[in-house]
Parts: sequence; C-alpha cells; structure tokens
Amino acid sequence: MSKHDFNFATDKAVSAESHDEYLSLYWQDGGVSRFHYQWLRDNCRSVERFDPATQERKALTETIPGDLRSNAIRIGEDDIRITWSDGAADSHFYATWLKNNAYDVTAGPSQSRQHQWGSEYASSLQSFGYKDVMADDVIAATMVDAFEKWGLIRLTGAPTDDREVERFADRLAYVREIAFDRVANIKVSVDPYTLGFTNSSLPMHTDCSGYSWPPNVMVFHCIQNEVAGGASQYVDGAKVIAQLRKSNPDALRILTEHDVEFRLWSKQADTLSQYPPVMLDQAGDLALLRYANWTVQPLKTVPFDTVPRWYDAWRALAELVNAPENRLSHRCEPGEMLLINNHRVLHGRDAFDDGEGIRHFQQVYMELDDLSGFRRIVQGEGGVK
Ligand SMILES: [Fe+2]
Repeated sequence: MSKHDFNFATDKAVSAESHDEYLSLYWQDGGVSRFHYQWLRDNCRSVERFDPATQERKALTETIPGDLRSNAIRIGEDDIRITWSDGAADSHFYATWLKNNAYDVTAGPSQSRQHQWGSEYASSLQSFGYKDVMADDVIAATMVDAFEKWGLIRLTGAPTDDREVERFADRLAYVREIAFDRVANIKVSVDPYTLGFTNSSLPMHTDCSGYSWPPNVMVFHCIQNEVAGGASQYVDGAKVIAQLRKSNPDALRILTEHDVEFRLWSKQADTLSQYPPVMLDQAGDLALLRYANWTVQPLKTVPFDTVPRWYDAWRALAELVNAPENRLSHRCEPGEMLLINNHRVLHGRDAFDDGEGIRHFQQVYMELDDLSGFRRIVQGEGGVK
C-alpha cells in the first residue's frame, strides 16, 4: 500500500472542538492537532475536489470562503466528516491521513538533512561501488540519500571509458545541459575560455554562477591522472555559512542582501546572472552559494556607501572558505567519480605540471531534483498513483 492510499487507518480521534477559524482534534493517544477550516477544505479528498487517479487537487483554492466554518463535525471509527457553513458538499478525512499531515507543530530543532563537514570528512568520504549503483536501484537510491545529506560522495570502480559519466547520468536521471559542453573535457586546452582548462591552480569556487539556476550537481569522472600535483579541494559551503552566521552575522547579511553580477562566457556562449552570492532557505541554512571570484563583474548593484562593507564581508567569507580545517583534499584516481552539490560545496584544485603526463577528467551536470525524484520512487515515497 502506498502513502497515497488513504483507505486505511490506525489513528483515531476521540473528540473535536470548534473554534473561530479552526478545529482541534483530540487523538486517542492523548495528542491534539489543530486544523484551520480553510486548510481542511483545501485538502479535501472528496472526488469532486481531488482527483483520485492523479492524486492532484481539482478545486481552486481561491474559491474557499475566508469566513468558512463548520456546521457539524462527526467523528467515526477511523474518520472525520465535516459539514460546511457555506452549504458545499461535506468533506471526509481518514484520521490517519490527518494525523500524518498535521501542521500544528511547535518549531523544534532544525529539520535540515545537511550533514556538515570539514577536512575530517576525507577519512570517511561516503563511497559506493560504481557497478553496484549502475546495477541495483536500491543501492543507487541509498547513494542519492547520502548525497542529499553530505553534498559530496565518491563512486569507485567506474570504467575509464569516454563519456561514461554521461551513461551514469542517463542511468539515474538526465544530463543538465549548459551552453558550453554537454560532456566537458577537463584537461589543458590550447584555447581555454576558463581557467579550468589550464594547468593553473583554481581557487575554491562553485560552477556556472552566470546562470540564474546554476546546475545543481557536478559529476566529475577521473579518466587519467598522471601528473604531479593537481589534487582537488572541497569545502562544505553549508558549514562555512553556519560559521559565518556565528562569527560575523553582519557580513552574512550583506552577502545575502545585495545582488552581484556573475558572468561566464566563451566565443560561442555568454551567461550572466544578477543574484546575491549567498541565498538562504527559510530556516536560515544555505540554499544556494555563488562563489567564483573570476566571474564576479565590477560591482554596480551594491549601494555606494555599502561597498567597503561588502568587501569586508567577502573577505570574512573567503577566510572561512580558505581555512585549512574546512578544506578536504582528495586526489582522484582513474575510475573514480565524485558527485558534488554545486549549490553547496565549493571545489578547487592545486596547480599541476602537465609536462609529466596527462590529467583528463570528464564532467556532466545534473539536477538534484531529478536524483531526489529517483530516490523517492525507489524508496516508495512517491511515483505511485
Ligand atoms: Fe569548476
């Protein structure tokens, strides 16, 4: 039975109490939940308001009267029936569904699924066998679950074939194409449009800040790595932002309040966005970090009097990004793939000497929405109608 089937019940309401805008349901286990009448009508599962096949709302939310009340509430063995004050058809709910969807909860500790990490994560980097992930949906879903939590995981034992990284993306979801390359070859180029295609060191950064929605996931596949140096570095932006909130909340506020232009372009393509470098979710956790110093355009959108404070704030953030205890160093070997949450985790690399051999990585982007959807279907949390 799926989560979407409501014809079962294990919870029981024992009484209801009407108030002006809401009702209180007292549960057999001693708990109580409050539900607004407008919310109940909006979420009514009756067939005239909700399509049982698609599990989608048919009724229009804006048609619910603002002064909606109940004329009668009847509690059954495993259900609750409400007669409405506006004369519309009754609503009927299974008690278990209401209890599972109760929203009258006091704020507890942060519900963030993020596991924040620093340099110590190098020794416990979440790792999965590539062949297992490609062959077994349950293992692949477990991998996605780990990725959602950690934002950086490793796959081992992948073939070093050309475009294997694209086969990986297609197996789980889709490649997120960008203007430059569907499958990027990261190696020294004779005509680079970005520092990534040179042998220079790359300061910590996130990719594709020039997009209003930068690709969410980087999949980074090591095909050859014969050079000295060139180790990759990773920093958990979620941890850095949490640190900045404690150490310098004014700096964090400035970096979330003012747009900055980011631009990445080549001869064929041009991406330009205007957003704050740090975007937070409603809980105050990091939602999207844009941090790529060479793509930041001359400041034009920060108020004149704020510009010195903006530079102070950027320095404060950079100090945490560059702190050794926040930095995980990992030298990829051929056959490794790394999944990197590009909205959260910064990456960079040491310089290398390409006179000694070849360093060749391939990379595609994906969207976390698609990976999470894959996981939910495999784990039975969605996709059943
Ligand atoms: Fe990059």
